[in-house]
Amino acid sequence: MTSLKRFNTLALDAHCEQVIEITEFDQLRTVLSEIQKKSQRFLILGSGSNLVLSQDFPGIVLHIAIQGIDLLEQDKSSVTLSVSAGEDWDKFVGYCVGQGYFGLENLSGIPGTVGAAPVQNIGAYGVELEQLLVSVEALEIETGILRTFSHDECGFAYRDSLFKRDGAGRYVITQVVLKLSKGECYQGNLSYKGLQDEFNKRDIGVPNPSLVRSVIKEVRNGKLPDPAVLANAGSFFKNPIVTEPTHSHLLEHYPTIASFPLADGQVKLAASWMIEQAGWKGFREGDAGVFEHHALILVNHDDAKGADILSLASQIQDSVLHKFNVRLEIEPLVV
Ligand code: EPU
Repeated sequence: MTSLKRFNTLALDAHCEQVIEITEFDQLRTVLSEIQKKSQRFLILGSGSNLVLSQDFPGIVLHIAIQGIDLLEQDKSSVTLSVSAGEDWDKFVGYCVGQGYFGLENLSGIPGTVGAAPVQNIGAYGVELEQLLVSVEALEIETGILRTFSHDECGFAYRDSLFKRDGAGRYVITQVVLKLSKGECYQGNLSYKGLQDEFNKRDIGVPNPSLVRSVIKEVRNGKLPDPAVLANAGSFFKNPIVTEPTHSHLLEHYPTIASFPLADGQVKLAASWMIEQAGWKGFREGDAGVFEHHALILVNHDDAKGADILSLASQIQDSVLHKFNVRLEIEPLVV
């Protein structure tokens, strides 16, 4: 049995039969076909930054480490890149900003791989991956056929996609195609209020993408724990989306509730605010805890088991439901 502790950022010490490092597309196809023939169980992993291993995994873990960035086309104002699934997300964002390819800088500092990014449609500081994504290439496990999913076929929603729903367990993402901006006039996206505030505070003047990247990295470092220092899987719950009448009702009781109106008239509530109000911020039970500086992040102080983290999550869900009558949904993949 092999420990998966270093293969998941929550550092959960679950075990599997074997880990196979996949560095080439053809190797992926061969290994998957052998696994299929033997009817073995398998799990596809990037960097394990959005994963809760609730128990040992009785099968093979494929660690996707396929590398490469290809320029497909470009003109004066845009560039289209095809990126291999095993590339580190933040390194890739840094590469783009360095090359003068813009749009992804708001997604700086997010842990994980490029291949995992579309699965949960990563988003931060006013940008969601789907805004820049053209298509996804994925190997269909059952047939061994490489399929291209257009943006629309990916079925993106808030922290959600086809690959988390009907496609779960059916495909391995191998490439992601993105269209980014180029050119002097692109100044960066400061639509997220918190980000605009950071720029105002610093009195920097005209923002540019590399400044946006460095400010975001600073903000994230100040408020989110580095998994290498304190094990975590980022936001543990989605921010719940409620109807306007539900929001108004909550506002009557909780005038300071943190919320964001959405374009479709619904309202996104800050789960972190509700968890904090319910008294969980900084809570610790054994080695499972709620991060002391951000209530949406569950942490493993050392040797918590997946079951300990899930038990804490369930207590938090019950308590938020009881206090606010709002159900929190777990965001990372639970295996
Ligand atoms: N807040 C609290 N208590 C806290 C933390 C935050 O009341 O302990 C309040 C803040 O004052 C703020 C609001 O909650 O008004 C929102 O906080 P924040 O800006 O940190 O964002 P978030 O909603 O908690 C989401 C994403 C993050 C992303 C940030 C920034 C989800 C589930 N999470 O967090 O993404 O980095 O916005 O855009 O949508 C992730 O998905 O893993 C992740 C880290």
